[in-house]
Amino acid sequence: MAEARLNQRRVLVTGGAGFIGSNFVRSWYRQQGGLLLVLDALTYAGNLENLKGLEESVIYRFVRGDICDRTLVSRLLQEYAIDTIVHFAAESHVDRSISGPEAFVQTNVVGTFTLLEAFRTHWQDQGKPDHFRFLHVSTDEVYGSLGPDDSAFSETTPYAPNSPYSASKAGSDHLVRAYYHTYGLPTLITNCSNNYGPYHFPEKLIPLMCVNILLGKPLPIYGDGQNIRDWLYVEDHCTALSAVLRQASPGETYNIGGEAEVKNIDLVNLICELMNELAPDLPVRPAQQLITYVSDRPGHDHRYAMDISKIRADLGWRPSVTLAAGLRKTVIWYLQNRTWWMPLLSEEYQRYYQKIYG
Ligand code: NAD
Ligand code: TYD
Repeated sequence: MAEARLNQRRVLVTGGAGFIGSNFVRSWYRQQGGLLLVLDALTYAGNLENLKGLEESVIYRFVRGDICDRTLVSRLLQEYAIDTIVHFAAESHVDRSISGPEAFVQTNVVGTFTLLEAFRTHWQDQGKPDHFRFLHVSTDEVYGSLGPDDSAFSETTPYAPNSPYSASKAGSDHLVRAYYHTYGLPTLITNCSNNYGPYHFPEKLIPLMCVNILLGKPLPIYGDGQNIRDWLYVEDHCTALSAVLRQASPGETYNIGGEAEVKNIDLVNLICELMNELAPDLPVRPAQQLITYVSDRPGHDHRYAMDISKIRADLGWRPSVTLAAGLRKTVIWYLQNRTWWMPLLSEEYQRYYQKIYG
């Protein structure tokens, strides 16, 4: 397909008001023409502030709705002549999946199935055009947990999800794969490591630590803090997704990671150091005094790490932001955007927080 036509893709972005989705919408918007239609249910994690400024654009539209609503999804695909779905919408927090798994099965499994069915019909009705794509955004957590000496997850690592969240994402990955093999639907799957950066809801580790340091609240470390995650700056993730959309062949799967493995406790110490340096009016200084060890998460995966040699070799993508640089940008963003995160600390958030941390 000619580059000019690629730039004119008519994209339905599900979950585009969430953390990664909104970063993707901004990044795609800067590079492309065509259409960007965001479908988002605006759950606690969705926020129209994340998309502020785009409302005036002629290529952007927002629809509030549920990906499980087949009638709505089919209507949008037809009405807006969609040729590409980039599917972010999900329940995304492991701790919430432990306290309430049902929504995860509903949105992540049933919702993905609903999108696949609607998109298959639409693609068939249009005569199965070659350039249609369904890009499913998934996680490294489907591969399970690594020991300290295990090699990183590759695209051929068998699935072994351990939490209700990762099990629901694994289920959705399998459905996407099946739609390619059974119907020839032009699907793509990406599995990425832990993202961080602007617009990250303050329930995940990095934004929670930033917000709590600024409020002088405890920094809860699960277990002994020795668990390891690989951190990917969200803008790098977005460039990887663009590369996959532009260059990857249907049916392909790519791992995306930041090549930045770090123990949780070391990461939290880095954030504390940055806050000590950059925030003049911290309620508690040095911020490290706020570190509090709490009970471990049930079934807590020890380590995730991604082998990204396939995307490097096939698509020429690699992460460009180091953990040190990305963390600095992120800390500065949370310092400068209190007006974004303060309203999120709602009663629902406080109730959730009490339930998890007591
Ligand atoms: P998020 O929780 O910040 O955003 C999810 C968005 O989906 C929200 O805007 C929410 O309103 C919307 N949504 C939820 N249920 C919906 C429904 N039924 N219908 C329509 N919209 C709905 O999530 P995120 O961190 O941006 O993650 C995006 C995707 O990337 C998810 O599929 C997640 O599994 C995957 N992922 C995330 C990470 C990470 O580190 N954040 C890592 C790997 C993979
Ligand atoms: P999180 O950001 O929830 O992402 P995931 O569980 O999907 O990897 O958590 C990242 C790591 O940080 C994980 O090992 C759990 C740990 N963690 C804490 O120690 N304290 C916290 O308050 C949170 C939210 C996470």
